[in-house]
Amino acid sequence: MQCHEGLQICCIVIHCACMFLFLDNHVITFKEEGVWNYSTMLIREDLGLLVLGAREAIYALDINDISVAKSKVPWKVTEEKQKECTSKGKHPDIDCRNYVRMLHQMNDNLMYACGTNAFSPTCDYITYGDGRLKLEGNQEDGRGKCPFDPFQRSSSVMVDQDLYSATSLNFLGSEPVILRTSPIPLRTVFKSSWLNEPNFVYMDVVPESEDSPEGDDDKVYMFFSENAVEYDFYNKLVVSRVARVCKGDMGGQRTLQRKWTSFLKTRLDCSLPEPSLPYIIQDVFHVRHKKWRKSVFYAVFTSQSSTDLSSAVCAYNVTDISEVFSRGKFKTEVNVEMSDVKWVMYNGELPVPRPGACINNAAKSAGIMRSLDLPDKTLQFIRDHPLMDDAVRPITGKPLLLKRGPLLTRLVVDDVSASDGQSYPVVFVGTENGYVQKAVNYDGEMHIIEEVKLFQNADPIDVLRLHQNQVRKTGTGYRF
Ligand SMILES: *[C@@H]1O[C@H](CO)[C@@H](O)[C@H](O)[C@H]1NC(C)=O
Repeated sequence: MQCHEGLQICCIVIHCACMFLFLDNHVITFKEEGVWNYSTMLIREDLGLLVLGAREAIYALDINDISVAKSKVPWKVTEEKQKECTSKGKHPDIDCRNYVRMLHQMNDNLMYACGTNAFSPTCDYITYGDGRLKLEGNQEDGRGKCPFDPFQRSSSVMVDQDLYSATSLNFLGSEPVILRTSPIPLRTVFKSSWLNEPNFVYMDVVPESEDSPEGDDDKVYMFFSENAVEYDFYNKLVVSRVARVCKGDMGGQRTLQRKWTSFLKTRLDCSLPEPSLPYIIQDVFHVRHKKWRKSVFYAVFTSQSSTDLSSAVCAYNVTDISEVFSRGKFKTEVNVEMSDVKWVMYNGELPVPRPGACINNAAKSAGIMRSLDLPDKTLQFIRDHPLMDDAVRPITGKPLLLKRGPLLTRLVVDDVSASDGQSYPVVFVGTENGYVQKAVNYDGEMHIIEEVKLFQNADPIDVLRLHQNQVRKTGTGYRF
């Protein structure tokens, strides 16, 4: 089976299989007997491959027919590692295996992969040549890049050969971190005001230095949910967040040494007309535009109350997010009564340069050329106030799509340009019971117009990617 030119395809991964769903609802599946937990994919258009990470193996599938594995490389835990893991009370077959959880492109033929390796995360380089995948055997410590626990979510992005990763740093999974592995490694401060039992969902870079009159820097945005510090609530309340760091951050000199000086976070709002607990973010898709100011993040959320089976899709302008960080108010901690603290809007004067801002033209003209030159006052402020006061609101002020019933797990968005020159987003969502649904925008609201059931057993969709064949169709390819 050959792909038709210009067709969009959803790539889907569940525990037991990887598949392509074509627009005409035709499905191709890849599955190897006895191999489970397909959980990561990397599309290498240049090599004609879909690189697929599973439990103890990595595959190179033919992108024109993914049912064919061109090459496979095993990546097993050693017996010794497995024993060590079992002796710490973990299950030999469920926990103490190597789950490949991260795959990134480095340069032409080089890729970087990390696996949980029996609760001892490890990374390695992979090459592809002469039709063969090869694990280089240059094992590197994977702590902070890949989770210890195969059931924990994590997120990462490779930006100019620097790896940004959001995961947990320790065996217990209790030390969350957002790390940059680079000549100057940086990480988050270990404080609950920075990260409070987070669940990392997505991250990506936005080239905000392009066409920036202020001489701004590129940013890496991350999306996650975590326990809120800012609400009075009788028990744990989870909120959705977007955070960002500047690409050029080098940490501070004394304060925030080897830590982010530009880490800011805020609440991501996707609330319903009727009052409810905040919805929890599950997945994000970045609709990139040639001009970054027109880029949009779509996100899928689910209800946090176990009695309410409902999901929502909200969309956010990159500029609205960026605005909250560059001009919004901060939150600050105040002591109320004995030992209780409350987070309220900070109304005092801000140190200069503005805490959390990238090193821009204004900072440079004041002699601050790198984050290392930032004054202690700015650094101390950001160390204690990473949270912004304003939430980021969705584009139309409300969810684009609201759905009751089986929860939505993942989404991808295709921006289709129609014959009238306008572009229309088409959203594909995966569900917890193995469906892919297609929704289109109609008068500012999305409607599900079609769905495909992919599996006999109702497995949740874990990864969903959009793949476009090189020849991009214009206009009328869609039949709604
Ligand atoms: C691996 O796959 C098996 C079979 O589908 C599933 O029961 C198990 O929970 C998966 N493990 C992880 C870590 O996802």
